[in-house]
Amino acid sequence: MKFFIDTANLDQITEAQDLGILDGVTTNPSLMAKEGITGDDAVNVHYKTICGIVDNNVSAEVIGTSFNEIIREGELLAALNPKIVVKVPMIKDGIKAIKHFSSKGIKTNCTLIFSAGQALLAAKAGASYVSPFLGRLDDISTDGIALIKEIRLIFDNYNYPTEILAASIRGPLHIVACAMAGADAITAPLHAITALLKHPITESGLATFLADYEKAGTRRDIIAVTS
Ligand code: G3P
Repeated sequence: MKFFIDTANLDQITEAQDLGILDGVTTNPSLMAKEGITGDDAVNVHYKTICGIVDNNVSAEVIGTSFNEIIREGELLAALNPKIVVKVPMIKDGIKAIKHFSSKGIKTNCTLIFSAGQALLAAKAGASYVSPFLGRLDDISTDGIALIKEIRLIFDNYNYPTEILAASIRGPLHIVACAMAGADAITAPLHAITALLKHPITESGLATFLADYEKAGTRRDIIAVTS
């Protein structure tokens, strides 16, 4: 499963990249605004900086909602760096734009997916990724993981190459549930990713190992001599 970090914060992106498990970054206008990045020039510079940190895909969202606006913006974003994936909202003109980008070899991420029908339409148009929003479905008492399973079944039925990028992840259990449901990728805040590291028995077990090492005393010297 691919791991993306859902932020525009450069320190957090760098920390996730340094972990060695990062497959890319997703952003949206809200995440950009949270970092105080405003105006097209500043946003474009920020995308270029992010592309310089990570190895793979960086989802950059268009603001336009008409076909012509989405195409114009998306082509400008895609020209910034080959790592850019144009993030397009799930609207009628968005679907038309995804079809256009697909024919031009420009990768797309269809965002704001809340139903299997929307995901099917985006896959049919040639989206590289669909982004179902789990947390926001949970917020309205709807089962987001059930949606991932439905999309998985549909995409497998027709061998659609579109990848399921589960978004709006709120914690580590969402990530594990997505992996069990067959999501191709998740995008999550750093705290949800690093929470996967933690287990109280790991921590107490390591504390015991280190205490026993201190009691034994000389093991590090033995390693130094034999290595
Ligand atoms: O980037 C899209 C999605 O991950 C947003 O998540 O937490 O704002 O619902 P959230």
